[in-house]
Amino acid sequence: MLFQFGLNFTLPDKEGKPLDLRGFLGRYVILYFFPKAGTPGCTQEARDFQSLLPRFRAAEAEVVGISPDSPQALSKFAQKERLEFVLLSDAEGKLSQGYGVSLNGKVQRATFLLDRAGIVRWAWHKVRVPGHAGEVLRTLQALYHADLAVNPWIAVRRAKRALKLDPVPKELIERVIEAAHLAPSCFNNQPWRFVVAQGEKLEAVKKALPGGNYWALKSPAMVAVASHVDLDCRLSDNRDYFLFDCGMAVGFLMVQATQMGLVAHPIAGYDPLPVKEILGIPKDYVLITLVVLGWPGDPAGLGEKHRELELGPRVRKPLSAVCGWNEMPKEEK
Ligand SMILES: Cc1cc2nc3c(=O)[nH]c(=O)nc-3n(C[C@H](O)[C@H](O)[C@H](O)COP(=O)(O)O)c2cc1C
Repeated sequence: MLFQFGLNFTLPDKEGKPLDLRGFLGRYVILYFFPKAGTPGCTQEARDFQSLLPRFRAAEAEVVGISPDSPQALSKFAQKERLEFVLLSDAEGKLSQGYGVSLNGKVQRATFLLDRAGIVRWAWHKVRVPGHAGEVLRTLQALYHADLAVNPWIAVRRAKRALKLDPVPKELIERVIEAAHLAPSCFNNQPWRFVVAQGEKLEAVKKALPGGNYWALKSPAMVAVASHVDLDCRLSDNRDYFLFDCGMAVGFLMVQATQMGLVAHPIAGYDPLPVKEILGIPKDYVLITLVVLGWPGDPAGLGEKHRELELGPRVRKPLSAVCGWNEMPKEEK
């Protein structure tokens, strides 16, 4: 229910004008449901949110109060209490029902904290007004700082090799491809072509892997990523963008797979000619990578070197080796 609603709704504001909450995507939103404007509890709650409003805004949040009151009643309430945040009229109770805060036709006091993507990250039910707005603010501030860290799915993604033999359902594979297809590309050319290999074709592809990629033999599906230089921008100075754009698509695919608990491990170690032949990829296309898909398995089944990599820390050069400020970083000797 919650996920379906998020910010996907439009309600009249206190002037009676329809307000599409999707306009707040990119900011945090505090959706607070209250039963009736002007009553003591609702007045205190509104005053508390109003007095903390500059601090909510400093953490890039909009406060949105929602009640079954008419726009006129909300307008009067806002004027009297000098409320500067958005008030919405949910007279038909659609939103309060959608958010599960309506009991026997009455709105329960509840607050939802939505993130920049419109996803509910925190919920307070049966709210007691004293101290509530302050608690919401503290939670928002914690979330705001947590979201400034490296994206957690990027941080935990690894090129894992230990796989289970279990199949990956078709709709999950489609989902990761969908994510890949949302990548940006030069002129929106979308030069990526994906071929999902399963069953007999997959078994044939596995014969084109070198011994070092033995671990991929357990994979229940692989995604071949192919493209052609003419499918994307070709600019001066050798700037052919097809490989770059396909790389971004695979990056998106891997992040999505990680979020879904899947392993998505791109490999370069395969014999491209037979793989192209098996999967009907034209000879003049570049078979950029095979993305090995699967569920994480037991590292005990890996060779020693791979087991150490699987369980060991992530290895990266220092940031200063790859990023310079106002000048190229020095290459390591
Ligand atoms: C283009 C590409 C090709 C790769 N080829 C292979 C491969 O053939 N076999 C393999 O075991 N790992 C392969 N890898 C995985 C890398 O070794 C791995 O991403 C790297 O060691 C960093 O580890 P991490 O992804 O866990 O941070 C490949 C990765 C990329 C991006």
